[in-house]
Amino acid sequence: MRIAVTGGLGFIGSAVIRHLLTGVELPGGGPGPTVLNIDKATYAATTGSVASVSDLDRYQHAAVDIADGPSIQAALIEFEPDAVVHLAAESHVDRSIDGPGQFIRTNVVGTFELLQAARMEAERRSMLEDFRFVHVSTDEVFGSLAMDAAPFTETTAYDPRSPYSASKAASDHFVRAWHETYGLPTIITNCSNNYGPFHFPEKLIPLMIIKAKAGEPLPVYGKGENIRDWLYVEDHARAIVTALLQGAPGETYAIGGSAEQSNLDVVQAICDLVDEALGDRVGGRRDLITFVDDRPGHDLRYAIDSTKAQTELGWKPSVDFTEGLRRTVDWFLANEWWWQPLLDERYAGQRLGTVGGGDDQP
Ligand code: NAD
Ligand code: TYD
Repeated sequence: MRIAVTGGLGFIGSAVIRHLLTGVELPGGGPGPTVLNIDKATYAATTGSVASVSDLDRYQHAAVDIADGPSIQAALIEFEPDAVVHLAAESHVDRSIDGPGQFIRTNVVGTFELLQAARMEAERRSMLEDFRFVHVSTDEVFGSLAMDAAPFTETTAYDPRSPYSASKAASDHFVRAWHETYGLPTIITNCSNNYGPFHFPEKLIPLMIIKAKAGEPLPVYGKGENIRDWLYVEDHARAIVTALLQGAPGETYAIGGSAEQSNLDVVQAICDLVDEALGDRVGGRRDLITFVDDRPGHDLRYAIDSTKAQTELGWKPSVDFTEGLRRTVDWFLANEWWWQPLLDERYAGQRLGTVGGGDDQP
């Protein structure tokens, strides 16, 4: 099987590639899949995240922008994939508040160009019905869940509220349209918040680990009451590959960890784990927690009911939040080689997303 993965130098895409190249047994056996990593290498990309597999013959990288139609078409014609697994995106809500234009360009226009290129390539090789296009999306398209509301499912109405989630919602609609209109066999996954190794330090969990280690203030937005449903990234990678191999074309699968936590609980748990790992008094780092102005349009709660994925794909999370957070803290403390250059060269840990509206164009 030949699989083109977009965004494979990012957090989740690299976990998918590591899983495809080292963890998957294909139905019928045979050599593992050959993977083309299509990633234009934005600020969020790191080659360190695929260093464990990039020497394999079955791994290739193409530095192509998915929004560049002719280039993405040429890449697919040359590689001749059986499937595309699409993760390339601008992924950070706070950056989408500061500069929404790039989110429209990559997440909306890029998904459109990729759908067109995949469809043309599948038709060129007369394999439209056997092709697969897996679109990796987010639960944020469903909007802000009330505290007492039931978790999101595949039938929850779309209600995106941030530039990021609006761009992902648009991309989901294009994917469904390409299935209905052109018969491209698409599968959509909508997943909750991920965490784990190689998570870019702009996101809550890695940022708090790194700042807690340094003894710096830990900025919690608002009162820290917002809730996210956390899934360990390797469980998400397994869900995506299972959806690719066993999912039904035209279907959507909601993927989540059933691990709802308030932001304050997450940050306090990180403080205690860092104290413990560094041999300091457990609880001491909680004094670093600092409540700061809330994010504009901050969604209150996300939570996923993944019953369909569990029953129809036989997938379920394998790492609970307590274990996953411990592994993540240990990984960040042991792998400064990976994140310190990112802080030095790309993002120094400053607050993002406070201006309440960027003015850039797609
Ligand atoms: P990330 O920001 O860590 O990585 C994105 C990757 O895409 C980067 O390597 C970047 O270089 C690449 N990329 C960006 N624009 C590109 C372009 N125009 N052409 C080619 N490559 C480009 O993101 P992530 O957290 O790994 O998220 C991956 C996907 O999963 C995204 O589609 C995101 O919406 C979705 N998702 C993320 C989460 C989460 O918690 N992080 C949860 C659910 C769904
Ligand atoms: P984030 O990791 O940006 O993911 P998302 O916005 O996609 O859920 O943020 C997770 C939660 O943590 C979200 O409610 C915002 C909050 N947050 C903070 O309180 N402080 C921070 O410094 C960051 C980056 C996020």
